[in-house]
Amino acid sequence: MKNFPVPRGTNDILPSEIPLWLNVESKARHLLRTYGYQEIRTPLFEETELFARSMGETSDVVQKQMLNLAASHREDAEKTTSASLSLRPESTAAVVRSYIQHHFDQKENLTKLFYIGPMFRGERPQKGRLRQFHQIGVEAIGPESSLAYLDAEVISLSVHLLRSLGLKNFRLKLNTLGSPDDKKEFSRQLREELRNKISDLCEDCQGRFERNVFRILDCKNKTCREIVSRINIGHSYLSQESQVYYVQVKEALESLGIVFEESFNLVRGLDYYTHTVFEITDSSLGSQDALGAGGRYNNLVSQLGGPQADAVGFALGVERILLAMAPDGVIQEAPLTVYMIAMNEESYRKAFEILHLFRGQGISADMNYRLASMKSQMRSANKIGARYVAILGEEELRQNAVTVKDMTSGTQETIAVENLTKVFKEKNFVIHNHE
Ligand code: HAM
Repeated sequence: MKNFPVPRGTNDILPSEIPLWLNVESKARHLLRTYGYQEIRTPLFEETELFARSMGETSDVVQKQMLNLAASHREDAEKTTSASLSLRPESTAAVVRSYIQHHFDQKENLTKLFYIGPMFRGERPQKGRLRQFHQIGVEAIGPESSLAYLDAEVISLSVHLLRSLGLKNFRLKLNTLGSPDDKKEFSRQLREELRNKISDLCEDCQGRFERNVFRILDCKNKTCREIVSRINIGHSYLSQESQVYYVQVKEALESLGIVFEESFNLVRGLDYYTHTVFEITDSSLGSQDALGAGGRYNNLVSQLGGPQADAVGFALGVERILLAMAPDGVIQEAPLTVYMIAMNEESYRKAFEILHLFRGQGISADMNYRLASMKSQMRSANKIGARYVAILGEEELRQNAVTVKDMTSGTQETIAVENLTKVFKEKNFVIHNHE
């Protein structure tokens, strides 16, 4: 018989792991709202061209990693469109598309949005590199939002988020690409530096030289890295204005006590970046060491047909955060509060009603859905990790009460059904609520 394992590079997130995910997601949501960001949920797929136009035709993601939807899925009911669709490899382009479509610029001067959700890239899977992975990201978009304080806020938020999840050993790398004109000058200078070393570069980088020279800067090949380490352009490509902006960003970060390292080689693989770029790495992750990254992208909104609006954002990889949190990030799964035990057919019906009574009051409760021996029901209660069992037998049924046993101390008491939820609430039982 054929087996059906999960597709390569994807994972089932199992019940035992869910508490970890909920912890990360709820802490993130809370903090992002604290910083004034509102959640947005865009579709899991968009027109392929949206991604190609924003990230750049020559970026690795667009060239090698797009997961296209099959042709049969792409025509709508009226067959009026036949645009190629792709699963989203990231959300910046999608958020910008939504910003334009819903005229956010007419509603507010600055729009601060966040998202949490799965992204898809057809990469070669390895530790920390998946085909379906999850990001927590923010995008701050608005006319006249090119403000060094906003860059500093976005960067400090990413650091704050990682710290609030207990991560400490990460490094923040910072650089600036300058304005689009500065960026052109940067690529011109890079080509100049590398022109007489082309034949020493790896095959990929030889192609990158014309296509996208910036990609050579983060090639992992040993020879390419040596060549790159000898390049000494510094920030000579920056205009006076861009220099000033960069200094302001650094000063704002320093005023917040955010420690960063300047990295002249940090260019980021996506075309839309201008000015500030940053990356957060954690060496405990091995070769896929980026916990997250982001930067400013001042021309993307207008490039995608929207108004003139500047923007800055970041995305953190949830799986990588979880890898870096382990092993001390393990959270005990919140146990079930009550496990109902019915001793016979007659009491079962009442027990089933009480089960709903508990749940209706927000007290987590469960029971066997088939009558079984007391011993087997106790075993189930233990396995689930119930803090209490509520036993309903003949005697209890007659008294309209239940016997509640504390599974840790072994003590038990009989409580009238009418007082049951009140007593449980007074004892301050865990109410399952992750928000
Ligand atoms: P990115 O650098 O492509 O940027 O991805 C951000 C983070 O997502 C990475 O640092 C990593 O933690 C995680 N990630 C990326 N690819 C994978 C993968 N295949 N498997 C596991 N984790 C992965 C962006 O996506 C930009 N949209 C960030 C941004 C937002 N810039 C401005 N706004």
